[in-house]
Amino acid sequence: MTQKNIILGITGGIAAYKTPELVRRLRERGADVQVVLTRSAREFVTETTLQAVSGLPVRSDLWDKGAEAAMGHIELARWADLILIAPATAEIMARLASGSAPDLLTTLCLATEAPVLIAPAMNHVMWKNPAVQENRDKLISRGVRILGPASGDQACGETGPGRMLEPNEIVAAVMAPLAVPDIVQAPLAGMTVMITAGPTREAIDPVRYITNRSSGKMGFALAVAARQAGAKVILVCGPVSIPAPEGVECINVESARDMFAATHARIDDVNIFIAAAAVADYRAVDEKTGKIKKSTDELSIALVKNPDILASVDRMHNGPFTVGFAAETDNLGDYARSKLESKRLNMIVANLVGKNIGFDADENAVEVFWLGGEQSFPLADKRQLAQDLIALIAERYLQGINADTQTELPIMMVRD
Ligand code: PMT
Repeated sequence: MTQKNIILGITGGIAAYKTPELVRRLRERGADVQVVLTRSAREFVTETTLQAVSGLPVRSDLWDKGAEAAMGHIELARWADLILIAPATAEIMARLASGSAPDLLTTLCLATEAPVLIAPAMNHVMWKNPAVQENRDKLISRGVRILGPASGDQACGETGPGRMLEPNEIVAAVMAPLAVPDIVQAPLAGMTVMITAGPTREAIDPVRYITNRSSGKMGFALAVAARQAGAKVILVCGPVSIPAPEGVECINVESARDMFAATHARIDDVNIFIAAAAVADYRAVDEKTGKIKKSTDELSIALVKNPDILASVDRMHNGPFTVGFAAETDNLGDYARSKLESKRLNMIVANLVGKNIGFDADENAVEVFWLGGEQSFPLADKRQLAQDLIALIAERYLQGINADTQTELPIMMVRD
């Protein structure tokens, strides 16, 4: 990251004691950090400490004439490349969700066009309260990124989700939107992204089929995030019960072979192909035209392998940048790396699946691998996670384009 301007808003939670460390780490990465303290944050951390580590006077009052004379709050809002609130209390989340602006920090959040990231920290019962969850959902739907919270021992002596992420985890998340300087708002403008999502349904007879537990939530969240990143999005989607995202072209299919055909019918203009669908690996050899009768105690159904859509796209000459998913029940890293290599993908996103994880859950945790690199994303709402994944995919894809342009080769994707 080259010099970047970050407003760090600190609100009144015990995790505020970690913020001097957070400021130091952000500055180590080249950021200028302007600290804004709320009234209750001053109970947990001092202005003197924060001023010493940030090298800038701490701001806290909307009505401070001296500070306003140096840089007014609108000017400060414009100065920021990013606003980070850590720790974020339930109170600040409620204020941001309602759009009220009674103090300097909330006013800056309303007055800025920069991305806003918040790292919640509160008691786990408070975090799970429907009012807080509703505010979280509202903020996510408006593009605010929620970092964490992590699960574990809490200052109140209880255990559960509500701990603020560690400063190094927050810094890693903050770096992503600042990493591609001039194209932060729409890194994928002008690009076409195709995403497969949901399960496929393989008929056995006119009334029965083989399928799996995929809900389509992960793929749909990626479609929304890719759209928000400026891409034209084509979503090829198996049978799901969630509504099509706005602004996304949705092609509904049923079987793996339908999905294969729909994908290849539109793949030629696609820049990035993301295979998030849980495609049935097998189908019945012989789909019966009439309903199978229960005349025997045992019944065997012969299965045959379905075409591998992702592998077929990957084999295309001058094909798109390919991102696969790996759904595993164990040995996540090993299986994912071997799929990355055997399918020769640009990237693979690995997630554990099982009862209540991966499939049909609202949250997911993933490890992403590419040749020469990897990144972990802790458990987060799939909509939030999708934004982080699209930011990473865009970064790697654009690096490939830039590398090609610099060597004056015709534009094609590199497999780094
Ligand atoms: O839909 P949700 O409920 O939100 O759940 C999300 C998810 C768990 C389904 C998603 O995150 C996920 O992991 N999707 C991939 C599931 C899967 O089929 O993984 P796999 O390891 O079997 O397949 C590897 C890759 O090949 C995947 O990108 C898959 O889309 C692709 N594939 C597999 C078989 C096939 N015939 N064609 C393919 O394109």
